[in-house]
Amino acid sequence: MSLIETVNVQDFGINLEEFNPSLSDYIKSNIDNKVVPESGEVSSAASITRMDLHADDNEYVRKILDIVLWITPRVACNIASNSHMPGSFLEAVSPELIAQVSQNSGWHPRAFELTACWGILYDGAQGVISHNHFPFTLSFSYYSHTSEESAPLEIENKTIPAKEGNLTLFSSHEQHEVKGEENSGERIALVGNLSYNPRLLL
Ligand SMILES: [Fe+2]
Repeated sequence: MSLIETVNVQDFGINLEEFNPSLSDYIKSNIDNKVVPESGEVSSAASITRMDLHADDNEYVRKILDIVLWITPRVACNIASNSHMPGSFLEAVSPELIAQVSQNSGWHPRAFELTACWGILYDGAQGVISHNHFPFTLSFSYYSHTSEESAPLEIENKTIPAKEGNLTLFSSHEQHEVKGEENSGERIALVGNLSYNPRLLL
């Protein structure tokens, strides 16, 4: 069973009407005009930016990445236990649970680092064929611009609506795709990968 987590960044105090156009503009300004497949996969169409946007000091990218890193310990605990822990994604995972996971399971919920981040522009009927992000650990997708007709993100057998403001995290090995949808207009997403790195805590 795949466990996929979606939060809406409005819950973290982001005003979508102000935020999303600025992030979308930043992604579009970094889009290479030629169509480039995502790393290690064959893409049907979508255009992408370079894959190190996390190295930039852009305030809008940084805000999404801050939320990704904030919720990652809870997402990781949920995936590892294949259940939803009590509490909200707004809350930090308790020190007691972190100690319990570290001692009983041998991994640390905070030992994840961002290892790639890029923007994707889907225009009209463009999509991305089924692929995965192995050998990364966790992957995320944030939609900064969609329309009512936008095709959803399909992860394994689950359908995640392409809704502005939604941030989705999932295990990187899970197969996912976006089917092209005629007349769906432009869709813009910020996506990326995290790796488990216990050396972070040394
Ligand atoms: Fe992907």
